[in-house]
Amino acid sequence: MAVLLPGGAGYIGSHTAVELLNAGKEIIIIDNFSNSKPEVLENIKKITGKDFKFYEMDYADKEKLEKVFQENKIDAVLNFAGYKAVGESVQKPLEYYTNNVSGCLVLLDTMRKYNCKKFIFSSSATVYGEPEKIPLTEDCKTGGTTNPYGTTKLFIEQILKDLYKSDNSWDIGILRYFNPVGAHESGLIGEEPQGIPNNLMPYIARVAAGKLKELSVFGNDYDTPDGTGVRDYIHVVDLAKGHVNMLEKLDKEETGLFIYNLGTGKGYSVLDMVKAFEKATGKKVPYKIAPRRAGDIAACYADPTKAKKELGWEATKTLEDMCLDSWNYVKNKQ
Ligand code: WQD
Repeated sequence: MAVLLPGGAGYIGSHTAVELLNAGKEIIIIDNFSNSKPEVLENIKKITGKDFKFYEMDYADKEKLEKVFQENKIDAVLNFAGYKAVGESVQKPLEYYTNNVSGCLVLLDTMRKYNCKKFIFSSSATVYGEPEKIPLTEDCKTGGTTNPYGTTKLFIEQILKDLYKSDNSWDIGILRYFNPVGAHESGLIGEEPQGIPNNLMPYIARVAAGKLKELSVFGNDYDTPDGTGVRDYIHVVDLAKGHVNMLEKLDKEETGLFIYNLGTGKGYSVLDMVKAFEKATGKKVPYKIAPRRAGDIAACYADPTKAKKELGWEATKTLEDMCLDSWNYVKNKQ
């Protein structure tokens, strides 16, 4: 029995592919390389020494997807094929709703047809909108997302809840990622944003590499210890391992719909990140204070207790690991 990974060549997908292979799972990747490169597949094989099947296709292509289900025995699906750029989603809402929501519906419908009902969804802390309290627990209210990307995550969570209510033979894990950063320690896979990065860590790494002049710190007048935004940065390899634990829980237990925060429980400010990066790498990261970015919140970090208790998972990598591995990846690409 295999585990299907739509979007498995992307940032989170590729790291999860590695951890699933390391855990002895058989995987199949689907990707159309819309935001990834074919060489990632070779690098996953290099890191793990293991092989897997690959289909180059759009995950929402119903006909092709059916063929994948006909040709293989698929036990579970982990969906990494969502678009994820917040700013772009504001410019291209239809593309985001089509790929993320309609695509996921095609996938779920096909799964149902082939009686494959184990599904893990990549959700995001963005579904909490303006946090009701911090640290965020899974029962905090959701909604009030400020961009189409976030709203696609919210909609799909609702779709999954409705689906489970209608048919409780589904077995569903919803993982709410906080801020994934870093890269595999080999430096072979990592995050490669197209154009100028929007997210903090890839931006810092490119400033350190001299590819960008300086970091703009978006606001220093938030109600946080140093005035800059606070987030829960989590190493992508820790995050990837969380999926393995989630899958093992779905395999072991009776069916259900489970929701977990995947975060470290620690909040770091933008300036903490700049300092940590400089300390870990010995590189200078010049920055200037700029106005707040629209849609940003002051602080957001997880209460990861539920994942620890029920999944037996917790993040183990340090902020230094996150900085070093991000740098190692960007440096290797120069
Ligand atoms: C972090 C902090 C910025 C860039 C978004 C999505 C979320 C998830 C991760 C995506 C904030 C500050 C940033 C810069 C800065 N999904 N910042 N200068 O906004 O918490 O979350 O990305 O794939 O759903 O909403 O992450 O890395 O963009 O920002 O000062 O050039 O860094 O204001 O405080 P964010 P981020």
